[in-house]
Amino acid sequence: MTLVLGLESSCDETAAALVRDGREVLSDRVASQVDLHARFGGVIPEVASRSHLEALFPILEDTLEAAGVGLDAVDALAVTNTPGLVGCLLVGLSAAKGLSLATGKPLVPVNHVHAHVYGALMEDPTDARAGTPVGEPPWPLASLVVSGGHTSLYASASPTEHRRLGRTIDDAAGEAYDKVSALLDLGYPGGPVIDRLATDGDPAAFELPRPRPDGLDFSFSGLKTAVLYAARGPNTKRGDPLLPGLSVPDLAASFQAAVVDVLVDRLVEAARAIDAGGLVICGGVAANRALRARAREEADRLGLPLFLPSMRLATDNAVMIAGLGYHLLERGVRGDLALDAAPRAD
Ligand code: KG4
Ligand code: ZN
Repeated sequence: MTLVLGLESSCDETAAALVRDGREVLSDRVASQVDLHARFGGVIPEVASRSHLEALFPILEDTLEAAGVGLDAVDALAVTNTPGLVGCLLVGLSAAKGLSLATGKPLVPVNHVHAHVYGALMEDPTDARAGTPVGEPPWPLASLVVSGGHTSLYASASPTEHRRLGRTIDDAAGEAYDKVSALLDLGYPGGPVIDRLATDGDPAAFELPRPRPDGLDFSFSGLKTAVLYAARGPNTKRGDPLLPGLSVPDLAASFQAAVVDVLVDRLVEAARAIDAGGLVICGGVAANRALRARAREEADRLGLPLFLPSMRLATDNAVMIAGLGYHLLERGVRGDLALDAAPRAD
């Protein structure tokens, strides 16, 4: 039995978790900075890294205490070292290096995006295909990672092997949600608010673009501009009010329908291209109810299992870091004190 301590600080959540053998969660703690960043309408990197610094050790102590174990019981330290905000990554990475040096336990660098995919696989598939043993996904999987920082498609051949098939060429889908929410005066983070409002709106009320750049890439900035014009008029200037009589729920529902259409269509295209055995959707936007429902329909149509993380594992957490860390440890992946934080990753 192998116990891995995971640490995550790549964006605006400080998290620690203890996971046994890549699957069994002993404890899981997350300190969110959402309230701290809400008044700025987005994540301010300097504010975020300072807040990680304050939160990390209390979170770590709490995680060990909740599991009733000391650091001596831990077999390895898994930490997100890429991608993310560099100042934020450095907080978790420096802590993990210090703990590794002090305890002599191995340090395992983890790619945050790959960890999101693994997080979706830690729970049973929502509609497991008959004959698929629980715990061993039907590789290869077509994986959509969709969050505030990423919108990418991967061909996933194992927990540790992911080949990128496409990515956003401008905004991430979650970022589009946050920007559209801001331009409709709905606050931050935008995803949950728009998700909720959209249930009262007509998704066909506004005709919005569904950009499909070459290959399996994504683009959301044109859609965001189309929403701006629909909300405030085509010649809008900064500070202009919303158009009189505008139905915000209708516009929210129409925006969401466009996002969900392109995300699900591209995921299906990717699945066909690699002859996937299953579909994965993960990252903060995987919490979106319309996306979950549409993906379920498409997976049924294709006869493929769909792996969706629970809400707890959809947004940033350290369970997925410790979980993937176990597989990397098994494959001999190690970091040393020279290990660096890399803001961008493949
Ligand atoms: O994975 P995550 O917690 O952090 C990043 O790595 O970015 O994702 C946060 C993003 C935010 O942009 C937020 O607006 C979006 O996920 N989000 C949602 C929903 N819940 C969170 N987007 C759409 N629908 C939701 N229900
Ligand atoms: Zn994330």
